[in-house]
Amino acid sequence: MVKNKAQERVPKTRARAKTNKKMRLSINCVIVIVSMVIAGWFGYKGYLETRVNTPYDGQKLVKYTSGLKVPDRYWGTYRPGAYFGLKTRDPYSLVTGLMWYFPRFVRYDGTGFRHWCEQSDELNRYAWLEHDGRTFGVQEIVDNHVLIRTTFVKKRGGYRGGDWTARIAVSLENPQIMDHLFLEEISLLFYTAIEDGTKGWIKANLGDYDRLTGIEGNTQGLGSFSINVNLINGTIEEHSFLSTVALGLNVLKGTVLQNLRIAAQKGSLKKHLVLAGEQLPLLPEGKREDPNFVVTQVTGKIPFEIEVSYESGSFSNRMDKLTGNNYDEALKEHREQFSKKFESVFNLKSKGYKDDEVAFAKMAFSNLIGSIGYFYGTSQVQSTYTQGPVPYWKAPLYTAVPSRSFFPRGFLWDEGFHGLLISVWDTEIELDIISHWFDLMNIEGWIPREMILGEEAVAKVPKEFITQINTNANPPTFFLTLDFLLQRSEQDLLKHNFHLLDKLYPRLQAWFSWFNTTQIGELPGTYRWRGRDEKATRELNPKTLTSGLDDYPRASHPSVAERHVDLRCWIAYAARVMANIAEMLSYPAKKYQETYRYLSDNNLLNELHWSPNAQAYSDYGLHTDKVVLQKIVPPPSRKQQSNVQITPEMTRVVLEKPLLKFVDTTFGYVSLFPFILQIVEPDSPQLGKILQDLRDPDLLWTKYGLRSLAKTSPLYMKYNTQHDAPYWRGPIWINLNYLTVRAAYYYSNVKGPYQESAKKIYQELRKNLIQNIIIQYKKTGYLWEQYDDTEGKGKGSHPFTGWTSLVVLLMAEIY
Ligand SMILES: *[C@@H]1O[C@H](CO)[C@@H](O)[C@H](O)[C@H]1NC(C)=O
Ligand SMILES: *[C@@H]1O[C@H](CO)[C@@H](O)[C@H](O)[C@H]1NC(C)=O
Repeated sequence: MVKNKAQERVPKTRARAKTNKKMRLSINCVIVIVSMVIAGWFGYKGYLETRVNTPYDGQKLVKYTSGLKVPDRYWGTYRPGAYFGLKTRDPYSLVTGLMWYFPRFVRYDGTGFRHWCEQSDELNRYAWLEHDGRTFGVQEIVDNHVLIRTTFVKKRGGYRGGDWTARIAVSLENPQIMDHLFLEEISLLFYTAIEDGTKGWIKANLGDYDRLTGIEGNTQGLGSFSINVNLINGTIEEHSFLSTVALGLNVLKGTVLQNLRIAAQKGSLKKHLVLAGEQLPLLPEGKREDPNFVVTQVTGKIPFEIEVSYESGSFSNRMDKLTGNNYDEALKEHREQFSKKFESVFNLKSKGYKDDEVAFAKMAFSNLIGSIGYFYGTSQVQSTYTQGPVPYWKAPLYTAVPSRSFFPRGFLWDEGFHGLLISVWDTEIELDIISHWFDLMNIEGWIPREMILGEEAVAKVPKEFITQINTNANPPTFFLTLDFLLQRSEQDLLKHNFHLLDKLYPRLQAWFSWFNTTQIGELPGTYRWRGRDEKATRELNPKTLTSGLDDYPRASHPSVAERHVDLRCWIAYAARVMANIAEMLSYPAKKYQETYRYLSDNNLLNELHWSPNAQAYSDYGLHTDKVVLQKIVPPPSRKQQSNVQITPEMTRVVLEKPLLKFVDTTFGYVSLFPFILQIVEPDSPQLGKILQDLRDPDLLWTKYGLRSLAKTSPLYMKYNTQHDAPYWRGPIWINLNYLTVRAAYYYSNVKGPYQESAKKIYQELRKNLIQNIIIQYKKTGYLWEQYDDTEGKGKGSHPFTGWTSLVVLLMAEIY
């Protein structure tokens, strides 16, 4: 038996040897194939990894890298986050700016020292009162009832963006009030810095007694230039300077603070804080490092005024200097032209507005256009294929900002609203802004939601908000701007900007497709905002930051079955605008027309989103209202020492199984979207019901505008976590109020059974909003991020002259 077995074994072994050979061969093959697959996979994975930060494959809309190609807007107040300063539209720029402090108040930790717009400075007010986005501006800053007036005027000449002069005048806001005599002194610091990466230099020019007489320099963009600071009137107590190396634009203030010394005034017991003069680090070879930051400080008795004049070396045939009386005259002329244009664009005087109301509107508009910034840098982005955040490509962004203090950077959906106001004033500026934003599109057709470019911008953002994720959308409000532009000046656009629009078109197509594919819902014709956290345990209702309405309540349990009515309306609206643009440019429009027709079909809309129970448009999803935040006390552990107190965080507790249903106990802005974006038919009974609900004070109506969430909603004014105060859960927001007024205007002008009630709502809502925003401005000195729904008080970030400035269009009735 044994033998047999052995015999048997032989051929088998041979056979095995043969098969082994075959197998080895095939194993080799397999290895090759596997490794090819692996390599392929890695290649593919690498490909997937790089998609998020690969630019859209197409001609850029902004062709130039130097802003000199637009000489008129080369210099500007492009640092909205600083109280005052000019820079150029260059990736790396010469930067100028203002700091100030009251010597009596300043402390070494920097309190009382002003530079970046900070709410914690608690200024009485500050805003551009006049600014045209191009040539001049007048700003008033009131700090402790001391008025600091900063003005600037630009002058063409040469081929490097021309000259400019700025004035900084300090006076008492109300000289009758004598109780702030203790503030008789103020120190103004005007600085010039060159950003890291700028090719060029600056240096301080010193005269007798080492006094700074001016600054000169040369950069690649500007060529040679000089900057002089002169006293116009008043008494100067102290004059000192600093010439040093700052480690970045984000540490300018710290650098100044480190270089302030106490010194006695000559021939007096009086002491002053003076700047330390030249402070240049020694290089290894014994030379001094070149300065990149030169500051001149003037301490004077209020009132006084200084003048800063920048002159371009390329401007050789200068007839008059833009200083002294010439400056006064130039400013006067610019102001008159501005007022004329303001009236011809907005017609507020002829509509019967009083002077103070017109001045208010000028401020609201000017502080929006005057806070257009120019940023350059890389953002952090992430996709499901990248291990962590990866840098986006380096890019410039020319954009307005929502708030100079709190949000001094670009926000995608805010910008579509800003565009309405800006494009009425200056189409070219708006098209330039749109071009910059659409150049930020990646190959997938995605545009990041928040753009945090450059040292100064990054310094203002908490770390957890920096990374942008490419599955996340934001309302495509640039379609609002484009629609608006088309309706107001289609012929003009075609004549002057055809090529730009033609280049923009494929990017618009890609953007539309991105929304129409990545944000799609489970059922045909439904859409769902991505980016909700289904694992959240602390949030009463997981936030939907992507919708722009952050904590507005949605289905309590995020799921793929969810459908969001606001997003569906945005996409329907976008399809309509795309169809119009395609037609205008003679491209096939059929696909967009069909999509619009499909998504605006009221029967389908009602089937998917009209809750028969609540008789309102609603989201749909896995939902229960029975959720609460509770402190769950963990069972005491033995290891825990008795003297250690652990305060438990509030955690969400679900008291009832969520079910798939309409999220219809929540009524608010989201429920209004079919109306707001004018998708509901003028003769639809749904329109009648919306208008009725909208006017109901128990739901959304207040004397100050529409609140975001009905008083009857379970989450009305509820905290979302222990620390997250209600945001879009009650307060009045101006962007959606503007769209509501605009919709009411539309429905009051098309035939239908609800024309009259739409008209009434239009008139009342418009009046309420304008009245309250002006009253609050007079009371507080600011435009606000939101207004509370009980007394109309301004709340949140301020000044918020982003979309709250739409009040000017409400006044002017431009929709
Ligand atoms: C300072 O000059 C401005 C004009 O440049 C003038 O309006 C102002 O009254 C002057 N102030 C004083 C104190 O002379
Ligand atoms: C949008 O997506 C739907 C559903 O996938 C599709 O039928 C439609 O053609 C798309 N519209 C456009 C304009 O691409």
